[in-house]
Amino acid sequence: MTGVSRRELGLGLGAAALGSTLGGMAPAQTQVDGTRAAAGDLTFPPGFLWGCATASYQIEGAAKEDGRGPTVWDVFSHTPGRVANGATGDVACDSYHRYPEDIALLKALGVKAYRFSIAWSRIFPEGRGKPNQKGVDYYNRLVDGLLEAGIAPHVTMFHWDLPAALPGGWQNRDTAYAFGDYAAAMAGRLSDRVKDFMTVNELVCFTDLGYLVGGKAPGLKLSQKEANQVRHHGVLAHGLGVQAIRANAKAGTQVGLAENPSIYVPAIETPEHIEAAKKAVRDSNAMFLTAIMEGRYLESYLTAQGADAPKVQEGDMKLIGAPLDFLSINVYTGKMVRADPSSPQGYAILPTPREAPRMPSKWLYLTPEVIYWGLRSISELWRPKALYISENGCSADDKVSADGKVYDTDRVMYLRNYMTHLQRAAREELPIKGYFVWSLMDNFEWEDGYTKLFGIHHVDFKTQKRTPKLSADWYRELVRTNRLV
Ligand code: NOJ
Repeated sequence: MTGVSRRELGLGLGAAALGSTLGGMAPAQTQVDGTRAAAGDLTFPPGFLWGCATASYQIEGAAKEDGRGPTVWDVFSHTPGRVANGATGDVACDSYHRYPEDIALLKALGVKAYRFSIAWSRIFPEGRGKPNQKGVDYYNRLVDGLLEAGIAPHVTMFHWDLPAALPGGWQNRDTAYAFGDYAAAMAGRLSDRVKDFMTVNELVCFTDLGYLVGGKAPGLKLSQKEANQVRHHGVLAHGLGVQAIRANAKAGTQVGLAENPSIYVPAIETPEHIEAAKKAVRDSNAMFLTAIMEGRYLESYLTAQGADAPKVQEGDMKLIGAPLDFLSINVYTGKMVRADPSSPQGYAILPTPREAPRMPSKWLYLTPEVIYWGLRSISELWRPKALYISENGCSADDKVSADGKVYDTDRVMYLRNYMTHLQRAAREELPIKGYFVWSLMDNFEWEDGYTKLFGIHHVDFKTQKRTPKLSADWYRELVRTNRLV
């Protein structure tokens, strides 16, 4: 168990934490602003960091400007049949030009942090070599603008837009070293103003989904053995990135990654199911997060892969397992687990019924408890120093009303439910420091193009006009009060 005092004392399991009403909690009190809430119960800790997240290829556009080199996503999206309706990120939200407007949106929300990613190919159009100053200048302008607005930049070094010129992409071990060099270059240039860096975003998406399943760039369907090697190069890139950032950044820089581990919710909240869910987290993330947090591949993973296990060179696991200053997780969905003493691993992952409630993205089943259980399982397994939710949000059935506004009540419902479980994690004193909503605005949703939109601001892609949705108004109020009402 962790030193989570309130949980150990059996406190903090109010009805609200279970997603129901305030009934059964401390008596409601009317607040100065006229709202009513159980005193203190749904307040987040002072200084809790609220933010919004985006990623370069999804919002920047300006695909051919100022020396930016092509990426695997440019190639993929321009290949007929790969992305819904043939959409590309050529223009996207045009944030490359409109970033001052986007900073204004953040400021109006009152958030104190913005997570964005750097397009590697704006800095090194061919993945390595001589840095392109125009690309660096763009991120300098963005960082300076954010700081002027009182917003802390949280920078992801790699959010899937791999320079297309790198031979073999992630199949090639050299790409991990090229990533290290690029991360070093950017940490050196930005860490006088940026304090928080994430190496890579969502390992499974740019490895397995790109090289094994093929639904994401570069769209390959390799063998399991080849894919396992790609996975290894992904975690190695993270490790080399950590090393490079630490060696080149100013003192006090915090380094972590943004990972989307598979997360499991205990089917019933009893010790045996809780342990089962935790074990499922450790086992199913063996190739990614578990390797990073433990500096080794689990024997069970290596045995299961047999002759397909990745080739690991001396020193790799030490790099991969370097202790992190924080761990950020992207949380959207998960599955339930039950203890099953009759199975070899001791648990059973329960299939999600096909007709279970979900949001428009076909994978986005509603499981609000994953926020709490993700944070709790990870805290108990690996005791990270600090945790963030680097992404949470949803696609929704957005329609623009006659008054020009999107009343996305479904997204508000989603956020309110997930936040209830985030609040439980904070109340139980798990080391959760902040939360970034995905996403600041509607943007290019990878293979779904512009058919699934995650923004809390609507973007009219013809005029590029940004309009706050109801969910933005809801989030602004949460940020203002630091409290869930
Ligand atoms: C996670 C990814 O990091 C982000 O790029 C994507 O848009 C969201 N999930 C929603 O699918």
